[in-house]
Amino acid sequence: MKNRVFIFDTTLRDGEQVPGCQLNTVEKLEVAKLLEDLRVDIIEAGFPISSPGDFKSVVEISKAVKNPVICALTRARREDIDAAVESLKFAKRKRIHTGIGSSDMHIKYKFNSTREKVLDLGVDAVRYAKKFIEDIEFYAEDAGRADNAFLAQMVEEVIKAGATVINIPDTTGYCLPWEFGAKIKYLFENVKNIDKAIISVHCHNDLGMATANSLSGVLNGAKQVEVTINGIGERAGNTSLEEVVMAIRTHKDIPVDTNINTKKIHEASRLVSRLMRMPVQPNKAIVGRNAFAHSSGIHQDGVLKKRDNYEIINPQDVGIASSSIILTARSGRAALKHKLEKLGYELAAQQLNQVYQQFLVLADKKKEINQEDLRLLMGEKQSNNSVKLLLLEVVCGSPLTPMASVKLMFKGKEYTASATGNGPVDAAFSAINKIVKKTVSLEEYLVQAITRGSDDMGKVHIQLSHKGDIYYGFGADTDIVVASAKAYLDGLQKIL
Ligand code: KIV
Ligand code: ZN
Repeated sequence: MKNRVFIFDTTLRDGEQVPGCQLNTVEKLEVAKLLEDLRVDIIEAGFPISSPGDFKSVVEISKAVKNPVICALTRARREDIDAAVESLKFAKRKRIHTGIGSSDMHIKYKFNSTREKVLDLGVDAVRYAKKFIEDIEFYAEDAGRADNAFLAQMVEEVIKAGATVINIPDTTGYCLPWEFGAKIKYLFENVKNIDKAIISVHCHNDLGMATANSLSGVLNGAKQVEVTINGIGERAGNTSLEEVVMAIRTHKDIPVDTNINTKKIHEASRLVSRLMRMPVQPNKAIVGRNAFAHSSGIHQDGVLKKRDNYEIINPQDVGIASSSIILTARSGRAALKHKLEKLGYELAAQQLNQVYQQFLVLADKKKEINQEDLRLLMGEKQSNNSVKLLLLEVVCGSPLTPMASVKLMFKGKEYTASATGNGPVDAAFSAINKIVKKTVSLEEYLVQAITRGSDDMGKVHIQLSHKGDIYYGFGADTDIVVASAKAYLDGLQKIL
């Protein structure tokens, strides 16, 4: 059996520090429960002294979550530790995460102090925290840039003071994988009492090395990895949970495993993205929209012959129903044939050839060919179900009740409807619903600017669920309410 590596999730602490990603207690509880289902070992629930809201969240997560250890962050200060102890009082299994800077850069320019003084503060914080809680994790902030000999001294002293876990953070994402691995190896070789603690790695992604550095740490003896869902976190983010877990699962020769229920990865990614209003880049490893999508002819042909030709992970292992074949002008006959068969058309080689030529002409005009387009290509009449936005008017602002009026061309006729909502987009969707009358739920709604600036185009991606299936919609416009309505109609059109 492989050795276990513990997954310490800090989505609700380091992840939540990102501007615009703040969650309220109810939302944090939702994420924490999903992290428990995902079977993470430790949840870093917050930094209790930082605000009453963060304090309350740690209290409520401690009450609601039973299996993972609940951890609270502190600086090396007694008042921080007191707040953390109080916030953790309902936790079944609890940990305090305290620490101080270890690099000369932080010691000199952040603390205006000396190595000796920060060492004393670190040791004092561990001793003080240990009076209340047995499980104490110590972080040597900016360990990535710290002098290894001093870092080893610090680690040895805080273990002597009672630390049970030692976190070696590459706070600024500076290290390269072999360098970070060598640092962990150095600690194992130079800290006398290192066997008395678990070594943890906490990497940031400033050079895109967070996952590689974390794995390098594990290969050199670290037994805990600190991660966030979707890799969210300060600046370029933290190590992403899904990348570390799936790299370990995929490479059977890595001599450790995690206890993560990988089938929950996609759901966790969606939830965090939605609640934190943080879009996942489409090409993000494991959880990006395109992570299991194939659009070039050569790849589609290969994947249709055998999935493993172009996929190293089975999408179902991370909770995605199947990979997708996207029909574009780069697609080949194999993909077209596959899609047509799914619609019930069995074509002989010559007929397929003819349809393929027409398909290419259309695909050069449209970015993506959908089922409706294929049916038209096969000579079916234009579906009577098409829906198009003819007009949209909204009234909004403070203290007005947002209201929207829409005129749609639906099933060949013009319809108008008006509705109110909690905002102009909600009002526009409600007005559209009055005409189209489909029961859908909005799973995801993302607005992005193509470049910065208020005169920019807004791109809206939405995800609708209808009878257990997911439908994507996309819209772009300089007016984001119009872009939203277009995206909603695009999704609805696929359902229709
Ligand atoms: O990146 C870092 O150093 C941290 C510590 C507080 C653990 O987030
Ligand atoms: Zn961090």
